[in-house]
Amino acid sequence: MSGDETTPAPGPGTAGSRTGGSPGGAHRGDDDDHSFRALLRSLRAGMGELPPFDAEQAPPEPLPLFRRWLREAAEAGAPEPHTMTLATADAAGRPSLRTVMLHDADGSGWHFATHRTSRKGRELAERPWASLGFYWAVLGRQVRVSGPVTAASPEESAADLRRRSPAALVAALVGRQSEVLDSRRELADAFREARARAEREPETAAATWTLYVLEPEEVEFYQGDPDRQHVRLRYRRHPGTTDPDVTGRTDDTVPPTRSGASTRDHGTGDGPAGIRWHRELLWP
Ligand SMILES: Cc1cc2nc3c(=O)[nH]c(=O)nc-3n(C[C@H](O)[C@H](O)[C@H](O)COP(=O)(O)O)c2cc1C
Repeated sequence: MSGDETTPAPGPGTAGSRTGGSPGGAHRGDDDDHSFRALLRSLRAGMGELPPFDAEQAPPEPLPLFRRWLREAAEAGAPEPHTMTLATADAAGRPSLRTVMLHDADGSGWHFATHRTSRKGRELAERPWASLGFYWAVLGRQVRVSGPVTAASPEESAADLRRRSPAALVAALVGRQSEVLDSRRELADAFREARARAEREPETAAATWTLYVLEPEEVEFYQGDPDRQHVRLRYRRHPGTTDPDVTGRTDDTVPPTRSGASTRDHGTGDGPAGIRWHRELLWP
C-alpha cells in the first residue's frame, strides 16, 4: 500500500530536482528518470486513519456491503466514488480497461452503459465477461466484481439514458466512440448536430448506446490497514444457485449458515433469488 520503505523517501521538495539526467534528454520542465523515481518513492498510499473492517460481521451476500461502502465513500468525500475501472478482454484474451460510471447495483447485478460499437462493446460481444474495480483511497478500500455481462434491451437502454442528464444524451447521440477522429473540428460539428437533435427530440434513443449488467460471480472487498494487515473478504457465488428453487440443497458439504464455519470458510448465505455465497478471507 505504501512506498518502498527500505529507501529513505525524499521529501516532495527534492522530487523535482534535475540531477541524474535521462539518456534521451528530458524536455525542460519534464521529470527526468531520477526525479520521477524520487517522486514515486515520496508518495504514500493507505496512510492515516482507516476504518476497521470486521469480516466476521459481514452480511451473507455482497450487495448490501457494496452499497454501504459506496455510501461511506461518498460521505467521506471520495471523489467520484461511483466511477470504476471496467476490464474486458478481446477474442485472443488480451485485456483492456477503462473508467466508466456505475448506473446501479441491485439484485440483477452491477449496471453500466456504453456504446456497443466501442472497443469494450465489441469485446463484450466476443467475450461477455468482465471485471469491475473500485478504489476509494480516502477509506483505503477496494472492491472488485467479476462475472458474466449481458446487454439490456434497446428499450431498457433508452430508459436508462432518459434518466441521465441532457448532456449525457448529447454525448451518447454523438456516438462513434473509439473510432479514429480526423479532426477536432469534426467532433465539434458532431456535437452541434447532437445538441440540436437532443433539443428537438429529448426522448430520442441513441442508436448504439447500451446498458449492460454484470451479474456477480465473485466480489472481493479489501480494507487497507496502516500496519499492512489488510483485510480481504471474497464472496463467491455458490455454483448452481441462480434458481430460487435450488436454495439449500445444492451442496451438503457447506454449512448453510455461518455457525460452524471455519476461519477458511466464512460460511454461506442466501441472497435475493436464492443465490448462495461462499465467504472466505484471503491473505493480503
Ligand atoms: C470519470 C470517467 C467516467 C467515464 N464514464 C464512462 C461511461 O460511463 N461510459 C463510457 O462509455 N465511457 C466512459 N468514460 C470514457 C471511458 O473511460 C473510455 O475512454 C471510453 O468509453 C472508450 O473506451 P473503449 O475504447 O475502451 O471502449 C469515462 C471516463 C472517465 C474518466
